[in-house]
Amino acid sequence: MYKGKARAHTNIALIKYWGKADKEFIIPMNNSLSLTLDAFYTETMVTFSETFTQDTFYLDGARQDEKNTKKVSQFLDLVRSLAQKDLFATVESQNFVPTAAGLASSASGLSALAGACNAALELNLSDQDLSRLARRGSGSACRSIYGGFVEWEKGQDDASSFAKVVPSDQWEDDLAMIFILINDQQKDVSSRDGMERTVETSVFYDGWLKTSPIDLQTAKEAIAEKDFEKLGTVTEANGLKMHGTTLGATPPFTYWSPESLTAMNRVREIRQMGLPCYFTMDAGPNVKVLCQKKDVKQILEQLEQSFNKEQLTCAFSGPGLEYLETDVTA
Ligand code: ADP
Ligand code: DP6
Repeated sequence: MYKGKARAHTNIALIKYWGKADKEFIIPMNNSLSLTLDAFYTETMVTFSETFTQDTFYLDGARQDEKNTKKVSQFLDLVRSLAQKDLFATVESQNFVPTAAGLASSASGLSALAGACNAALELNLSDQDLSRLARRGSGSACRSIYGGFVEWEKGQDDASSFAKVVPSDQWEDDLAMIFILINDQQKDVSSRDGMERTVETSVFYDGWLKTSPIDLQTAKEAIAEKDFEKLGTVTEANGLKMHGTTLGATPPFTYWSPESLTAMNRVREIRQMGLPCYFTMDAGPNVKVLCQKKDVKQILEQLEQSFNKEQLTCAFSGPGLEYLETDVTA
């Protein structure tokens, strides 16, 4: 029996990954840049055994159906081929983040799974190779191997597409991200399906491709200069652009709900009051607010005028992949 356990935190992209150049290997169309966060994470234990006759996947204590188990099995196939071990596995995972609600459970989920497999089968993968492996499960997961600011360099193939830490002199420790939870139910269009439809049909996708490298450059300059206004401005603009592409798709779709718009407007108002804060959204209606740690209390007070306290979660910069327990008995 081979057992391993790992914890990975979610990350939220400031410059989004939106579109694949290669669907099988998950090579993205553009580089992306994220902040790993402390408040939301996944813990996953994997056990490989000669006695198992199939893969089994438990999420939050519930045995998953064939469709969800198949996704995990496909990832395990990659690991089995890397390890050259033909063993079925049981995966037991706990999401300390709502699943499939646009809060990046796929990022923490697949990087925790990659870490657990690395530990269980003693693959001894470097962080770079772990990032490449996690990427095969879910693109954004390759960034959750690291803490703080992380860039996923798109590369051009399996070997060259992986995430790296962005040097920041620990500036991320001065920042925060407030999550405004609008809806924690599973969304109708997954990130995977949404980005595929957009790449294939959106009349606005060209604009995304032309400008996201410029946004990335601006974000990296802002981090190097510790210029919060510059980082916030480009974060907000890049997120809006990503969501703009969905409206130009066939059939058109949006991840926004009326409450998302209310939240975005509130953030703009708070900013106009002199408290610097900027929003971003992913493939779901929830809104994330990038701000500076020193302003969190005042911004929360403002947001509490429009939202319940239970809807608001404050996150700070979080760590990279952590190993929790490895009990390896051959
Ligand atoms: P999210 O916004 O939460 O990342 P996605 O639609 O992008 O939503 O991804 C959700 C998918 O990620 C789930 O349907 C599941 O396939 C996968 N996933 C989420 N959590 C886990 C986990 N803990 N272990 C394995 N896979 C997971
Ligand atoms: C909008 O990484 O979930 O959150 O690679 O198909 O698994 P797959 O997609 P996923 O997409 C994340 C999209 C995003 C932007 C981002 O996190 O960069």
